[in-house]
Amino acid sequence: MSRMRRELPPTAGLPLRLPDLLPRRARFAAQLAGWLGVAQPQLECSGTAAMVVALHAMHRLRPQRDEVVVPAWTCPLVALAIHRAGLKLKLCDLAPGSIDMDAAQLRALCGPRTLAIVPTHLAGRVVDVPAAMAIARGCGAYVLEDAAQALGARSGGASVGLQGDAGFFSLAVGKGLTLYEGGVLIARDAVLREAFMASRREVIRSSLRWSLQRAAELLGYAVAYRPSLLYAVYGKPLREALAEGDPVAAVGDDFGPDIPLHPLGRWRQGVGTAAFARLPAFLDFTRKQALSRLDALRALPGVTVFDDAPGTQGAWPFLLLTLPTAAARDAALGTLWTAGLGVSRLFIHALPDYGYLRDIVPATELPNARDFAARSLTIGNSPWLRGDEFARIVDTLRRTLRG
Ligand SMILES: Cc1ncc(COP(=O)(O)O)c(C=O)c1O
Repeated sequence: MSRMRRELPPTAGLPLRLPDLLPRRARFAAQLAGWLGVAQPQLECSGTAAMVVALHAMHRLRPQRDEVVVPAWTCPLVALAIHRAGLKLKLCDLAPGSIDMDAAQLRALCGPRTLAIVPTHLAGRVVDVPAAMAIARGCGAYVLEDAAQALGARSGGASVGLQGDAGFFSLAVGKGLTLYEGGVLIARDAVLREAFMASRREVIRSSLRWSLQRAAELLGYAVAYRPSLLYAVYGKPLREALAEGDPVAAVGDDFGPDIPLHPLGRWRQGVGTAAFARLPAFLDFTRKQALSRLDALRALPGVTVFDDAPGTQGAWPFLLLTLPTAAARDAALGTLWTAGLGVSRLFIHALPDYGYLRDIVPATELPNARDFAARSLTIGNSPWLRGDEFARIVDTLRRTLRG
């Protein structure tokens, strides 16, 4: 029999164990409340659903406002969520070489129609929420922190999502803790929390079909999320998509317009209850592993590695880097993307450049977001990525950069 092909994941997801899958009393929301330090975290079926529920509630509270400002380099699901909530998307370019929105442009984009600003903690890094809050307060908008990729990240000791008016996390596959799909919505203020619950009653509809499908997918994840089986479910489709010249499909950025909006089932909440017990130690391990690997990447000429801003402690699902040129990035990925080492890209395009979003995303000049999309790559931070494998990645990058 041929040896199983080793394939590492592009993000550090917490592996599930068989006992996690046994039915149990779900205490997941209460566990999250204690750990995040916020009352009544609201469980939803995805980060996207959490965003729809939040925006719907905010629009009910401030109905004269209908614009939502997001960074131009973010998950396409964000655009779909804003559209689903019946609102208009406004794109803010990134600051040069940064994942933060450009503050001057953000200020210029906000006004009496702005409902919410969405600072986005990409790659687990904590972005500048106080800057967004200052602008939002100046124009009467909310701040909704997109912490989809940042469960466990903290700023000044408090969880992300609590500096703004509200925030949400994703529990989608590959995130620190996954229920295959899932989302958590939080708010400091009781008025918003009540509004979120009212919004959920209006927006979320139970669906046996989705409950069963997600339960089956979570079972599949529990079985297949390991280096010996990831080739079949992740590596092979990835290579096929790349061979067809479809990087959007390769990273799973190809979303349909329908957003499932159903409750997060009890059984999956119970799985979250069991897996949660291992989450803090897992996040701690991945943080230490990431920090121990940053210097080797920083030593590469022209490479920027995204690290924690002062006073913040991010989460580390993967390492995000930019290479000096798009050509160097493409050359590096030519070798590394299909090497089975968990090297990948985050979002392939700035939002206007996804063909399927054309009708809902305004065509906008976004030089910095496009530059970031062209020069960035990610290195998965799974505990399975051994030191010698990480060294191979660094070595390949070094040789590529030498040209
Ligand atoms: C930045 C960002 N926002 C929102 C989402 C949507 O979350 P979900 O996949 O849980 O619907 C994602 C998903 O990965 C994301 O990366």
